[in-house]
Amino acid sequence: MKDFKRTLVTAALPYANGGVHIGHLAGVYVPADIYVRYLRLQGRPALFVCGSDEHGVPITIRARKEGITPQQVVDRYHRIIKDSFAEFGISFDIYSRTTSETHHRTASEFFRTLYDKGEFVEQESEQYYDEEAKTFLADRYITGECPHCHNPKAYGDQCEKCGRDLSPTELINPESAISGSRPVLKKTKHWFLPLDKHQEWLSKWILEDHKEWRSNVYGQCKSWLDMELRPRAVTRDLDWGIPVPAPGAEGKVLYVWFDAPIGYISNTRELLPDTWETWWKSDDTRLVHFIGKDNIVFHCIVFPAMLKAEGSYILPDNVPSNEFLNLEDDKISTSRGWAVWLDEYLKELPGKQDVLRYVLTANAPETKDNNFTWRDFQARNNNELVAVYGNFVNRALVLTHKYYDGRVPALGELTEADKQVISEFQGVKAEVERLIEGFRFRDALKEAMNLARIGNKYLADSEPWKVVKTDPERVKTILNLSLQLVANLSIAFEPFLPFSSKKLRDMLGMEKAEWHRLGTTDLLAAGTQLGTPELLFEKIEDCVVEAQVQKLLDMKAKNEAAAWKPDPVKPDIAFEDFEKLDIRTAVVTACEKVKKADKLLCFTLDDGSDTPRTIVSGIAQHYQPEELVGKTVCFIANLPPRKLRGIESQGMILSAQAHDGALSVITTERETHPGSTVG
Ligand code: 2FM
Ligand code: ZN
Repeated sequence: MKDFKRTLVTAALPYANGGVHIGHLAGVYVPADIYVRYLRLQGRPALFVCGSDEHGVPITIRARKEGITPQQVVDRYHRIIKDSFAEFGISFDIYSRTTSETHHRTASEFFRTLYDKGEFVEQESEQYYDEEAKTFLADRYITGECPHCHNPKAYGDQCEKCGRDLSPTELINPESAISGSRPVLKKTKHWFLPLDKHQEWLSKWILEDHKEWRSNVYGQCKSWLDMELRPRAVTRDLDWGIPVPAPGAEGKVLYVWFDAPIGYISNTRELLPDTWETWWKSDDTRLVHFIGKDNIVFHCIVFPAMLKAEGSYILPDNVPSNEFLNLEDDKISTSRGWAVWLDEYLKELPGKQDVLRYVLTANAPETKDNNFTWRDFQARNNNELVAVYGNFVNRALVLTHKYYDGRVPALGELTEADKQVISEFQGVKAEVERLIEGFRFRDALKEAMNLARIGNKYLADSEPWKVVKTDPERVKTILNLSLQLVANLSIAFEPFLPFSSKKLRDMLGMEKAEWHRLGTTDLLAAGTQLGTPELLFEKIEDCVVEAQVQKLLDMKAKNEAAAWKPDPVKPDIAFEDFEKLDIRTAVVTACEKVKKADKLLCFTLDDGSDTPRTIVSGIAQHYQPEELVGKTVCFIANLPPRKLRGIESQGMILSAQAHDGALSVITTERETHPGSTVG
């Protein structure tokens, strides 16, 4: 592998139109942070750059909905996102924003360079225009009927019901989301990046020279490159964004996906105004983009084409993209509120940042989509962090306090078992390094946890609490080695769980984590006074995770209620047809479950006649039979009798069905004599 002098790590710029959730953290920010922390621990020069992505149509839509300006929207979310990242220990060197002056200048210059070099093609096309609002309409601003599934509220870029990608002109009866009027097609000019001209070198660069990229990334690139690439518009008709610096471009802005990746450059420039070019324009810099899978094509094809067209920049050396994280077996969805938001997690589970970092890494969607469940979260905390890592640390520290007043005892003669343990944890460093260098963070974390397992087993096998009675000298060696192992854990876990590693080092009186000393047995000198042992992790009780699951279920129910729409009205009928129905009231005199039928209740009704009427109704899952006795219900009296489970049912009891399927029997608002007609 090439010998790079420095590593520039970027993490996808999150859109500032909502908070960040666990899917973002698992997919991009935790792995990127692990990687950067690891490089820094090794003393290798690294820079970690990110910021908010503050342009684009969704931000203008949110602003319009809330009656505020796009700037107010991004100001609000930039703050929330930045704070959440900081609280989770995502150790950016800079977290800036694409509304910054430096970014506007940098993106504008970048466009202008490509424009002056003739790297764009200009094309006129017809696009929808709202004559009332006097503006061109972004695809998302046009709604209409989906030509495939006939959903009446499909968007100009996608139908959310059938999931198909659309173009606005495919919509039946298009409507402007701004004024509600019917948009007209109007000619407009845009600048395009001719990806077709870049196809050849891109194919060689990725498919031949970067076979080591993750298979999901390589595969997605290959399927793009196997097709003919087409020119991509890099400008838009919109009033929110960076004005296009070209003649005849009034009212146009840079497309958000053109300016956003330049944000990586701008933010480096903002942090290091004098030396930023070393990080972007030297062949001995290694550029690594951490992203989610929906960003692969932009980072592997479009942005490299932009960089190459500009001419003075390096290209990414790797783009470790994760797949998606699902939540409780369902796709994470911001619009449906099916997510665990970081700011809420921090309030509801304070001090548990490392637990989430651990679970998201142990279960990271590195090669395929994965699922987060609160039960798994609880189990990993209780069975791994508490029972393995925390338990080992605690036992070693508590025993040292008990037998040696908290002073590290001296190492004596080594037994075969001691030598075995030493050799096992000597091997961990190289293994963790190999895995992190290969972007295999979940396996690397497993290795670190393995170290804690080795420690636990060593203590359990050597039983210092027994040996102390017969051979106190031997206990000194056991505890010295155990404490050296504990100190090793604080280094091995540092890239993954920075908060608990720091807490552990404070207890051990270790000033810093030095990666090169991982695997050694002289991290703590004999005689070192240890601090008071504190628990590194706490057990999470059932009620905590149950409350989180309930919160999600409540959100789902709320969304379903909000999305519910009444059935369309049936075709008209003649009044005489309605008159044929004989609907009456009756009082329920008895009601019981029908044997061997989960859904059926058998009613005995007083319908005002001399003989009781029997009706079998499919509402057993919605009522206890005794709840209904004494109620006045409505029923259809003139349906032909039907046999249900051997019982003759003489009519049908009327009920209403709520949005969630729950049935509610129709009763009368005032007392009516049994047998009264309803109509
Ligand atoms: O998908 C997203 O959330 C985008 N805001 C990512 C942009 S990454 C980069 F190009 F800035
Ligand atoms: Zn559709």
